[in-house]
Amino acid sequence: VKKFSVHSAIANRDYSVLFIEDVKQKIRDIVNNYPVHCLIDKNIFDKYKGILDEKKLKSCKLIEASEDQKSLKKVIEYINFLLEKGVQKNHKILVIGGGLVQDIGSFTAHILLRGIDWIFIPTTLLSMADSCIGSKSGINVGKYKNQVGVFHPPSEIYISPSFLNTLPKSELVNGIGEIIKHALIKGGEQYEFISRNISKLDKDKEIEMEIIYRSLLIKKEIIEEDESEKGIRKVLNYGHTFGHALEGYTNHKISHGIGVLIGVDLANYISSKEKLLTPPEFNKIHNFIYPFISSYAVKVEDINLYMDYLSRDKKVIGDEVQALLSQGIGKVKIIKTKLGTKLKNYIIEYFNKYA
Ligand SMILES: NC(=O)c1ccc[n+]([C@@H]2O[C@H](COP(=O)([O-])OP(=O)(O)OC[C@H]3O[C@@H](n4cnc5c(N)ncnc54)[C@H](O)[C@@H]3O)[C@@H](O)[C@H]2O)c1
Ligand SMILES: [Zn+2]
Repeated sequence: VKKFSVHSAIANRDYSVLFIEDVKQKIRDIVNNYPVHCLIDKNIFDKYKGILDEKKLKSCKLIEASEDQKSLKKVIEYINFLLEKGVQKNHKILVIGGGLVQDIGSFTAHILLRGIDWIFIPTTLLSMADSCIGSKSGINVGKYKNQVGVFHPPSEIYISPSFLNTLPKSELVNGIGEIIKHALIKGGEQYEFISRNISKLDKDKEIEMEIIYRSLLIKKEIIEEDESEKGIRKVLNYGHTFGHALEGYTNHKISHGIGVLIGVDLANYISSKEKLLTPPEFNKIHNFIYPFISSYAVKVEDINLYMDYLSRDKKVIGDEVQALLSQGIGKVKIIKTKLGTKLKNYIIEYFNKYA
């Protein structure tokens, strides 16, 4: 069995990550050990009937996993619900779902009674291979995504990749985007393994688990060094500024994972223009990424609108963007870049060439 622990400097404790096969048994153990309230993704509850013995739970709330449900209003509703069910400081909240239910669970557990423990069972590839560790949570405020949040890691994480059997392909891609990002940040053996095997992920269970594990190890190293994102953790935003702008520009027809991959490719293109990356290095990474994004290629016809989205990103300060550029596989660097004509021309060039 694969397991490891992660140190949270902010919470001043370690938390454990354990890969499991029998999720039903694990839930039974948890519920027998502690007084538990459960927040569970409604889709999981419907698809995995009998996964919970509700009679043994203190309470159970089904959560609809859509972005408009990830609101402060809903959090207040869940807090009311839990208080009515007699939640106490020594109770635990068991959260079962993807990154969205994770955000709600983590945030709610943090502010309720000034912080109670929560246990997380991720059910999407993104939440297994990326978001489950790192302590962050984000709640949307109106149309603004993840603008309110806290750092509150779970106490235990149990990963059961068998959940992925029911995950739609369009959701799988979001996890793949972040896994490839991790591989390109770390480089070396991890990059070799992940790039060689990622296309087999949904066909081979052993490989699937190994890839999730390696993806988490890459992130663990970074967040243990800089959990609060003062420095090195910023590299995890590789591809995100350009990707977010594309998600916005296409009205979210481009999903997060694809946005990140196109964003990585665009960041690398800019890096090659700025002579940080040689053309063969750019091509090597491009040839690896391109099969994942080619069928989603979008023409950016209104470049000014795209630049407008870019300038609204959280990483933009004044007229400079803190761009994450690449000096090669395993060498992502934060480089302040002006949002001027030069950058705009690179972006036009990139989309003309590859979209
Ligand atoms: N806190 C963090 O560190 C962090 C990091 C990245 C993303 N996020 C947030 O996570 C959210 C995205 O999370 P996500 O990509 O994990 O997806 P998600 O939680 O939004 O779920 C996507 C869809 O898949 C369904 N689903 C979940 N598991 C399933 C399964 N096993 N089988 C079938 N359907 C299943 C859900 O019901 C939902 O319809 C966003 O809100 C994002 O802001 C948070
Ligand atoms: Zn992301």
